[in-house]
Amino acid sequence: MAFNDLLLRSINGEKVERPPVWFMRQAGRYMEEYRAVRKKVTFLELCKNPDLCTEVTLQPIEAFGFDNAILFSDILIPIEPMGVKLDFNPAPVIANPVRTLADADKLREINPEQDVPFVLETVRKLVKALDVPLIGFSGAPFTLASYMVEGAGSKNYEHIKTLMHTEPTAYRVLMEKLANSTLKYLQAQIDNGAHVVQMFDTWAGVVSHYDYEKFIFPYVQYIADNLKGAPLIYFAKDAFSFFDVIGKLNCAGMGVDWKTKLTDADERLGKGKFALQGNFDPIQLFGTKESIKETAEKIIEEGKTLKGHIFNLGHGIVPATPRENVDYLVKVVKGEA
Ligand code: CP3
Repeated sequence: MAFNDLLLRSINGEKVERPPVWFMRQAGRYMEEYRAVRKKVTFLELCKNPDLCTEVTLQPIEAFGFDNAILFSDILIPIEPMGVKLDFNPAPVIANPVRTLADADKLREINPEQDVPFVLETVRKLVKALDVPLIGFSGAPFTLASYMVEGAGSKNYEHIKTLMHTEPTAYRVLMEKLANSTLKYLQAQIDNGAHVVQMFDTWAGVVSHYDYEKFIFPYVQYIADNLKGAPLIYFAKDAFSFFDVIGKLNCAGMGVDWKTKLTDADERLGKGKFALQGNFDPIQLFGTKESIKETAEKIIEEGKTLKGHIFNLGHGIVPATPRENVDYLVKVVKGEA
């Protein structure tokens, strides 16, 4: 079969016959094929096994015909070699959170070839196996820092905000190490064949506009400015209020979460600057087929007014999602239902 380059054309703002479609977290527990693999290994063992990672990356492509694959891994995989003790059960837990300048000083920047060779091997295997583009990914520095400082997901983000506002040097040391590690990590994925990379800033939305601009955005911009050889998509969740700042980012694609209208996002980012990716509410996949189709068609219509539109969910798919509705939504976007 010919290589499906819909995603690449769309992200570059070229005319396309329909939007490409993929879902964040498209490989995962809502698929019985994934659960069967997970029965045999822990999540961390899975992430470090290139054959199994390749297998689960391909599962949703085969099952639903998505227009691209996303590397199977987790955003936290590259922080383990920086010096944190990481576990998943299933949410991430870090046994030695970073709370002081001394803690931040002890961390080291990663060297992807030495520290996460299994990720790069997975990328190479996937590029050989696929006839669709491969998206590589990372966490963004602040989201990774939040996990490292809080030690887990958090309600009020007290530890990271305290560090930011009482120990700016410790915060800066941590963020610089994360920005450099993330840049090298994404660049290594591109150098090994990833066609596009996405940076997930899942927790960016927990800070004020002032803090986003001062403490988060400069590190994202540093990565975007220095990455070479493939388009970057930045996905910051709950971040519409920062889109005036984010509009200055030097990248091709912008993720939009499910609370924001695509056309409003485009206006606040700067009309026509980015290809937008999104933004179907993942929980609406529990709805009826009629409701799914109605919303999907609205999103597709709005997408036609943009520089480019990549159809996606507005956040990751959740484990209890009915599989037949995933199949249905993909067919709606492809004009087959
Ligand atoms: O999209 C894909 O198919 C690629 C795989 C992928 C995973 N995590 C697999 C995973 C990607 C891109 C991620 C990114 C990720 N991980 C993010 C950013 C995106 C987002 O959803 O906001 C974040 C914040 C994480 C951190 C993380 N990893 C959490 C909070 C959890 C547990 C939550 C849950 O769903 O239970 C994980 C574990 C994880 N990452 C699983 C998968 C398939 C479940 C692990 C299992 O099989 O038990």
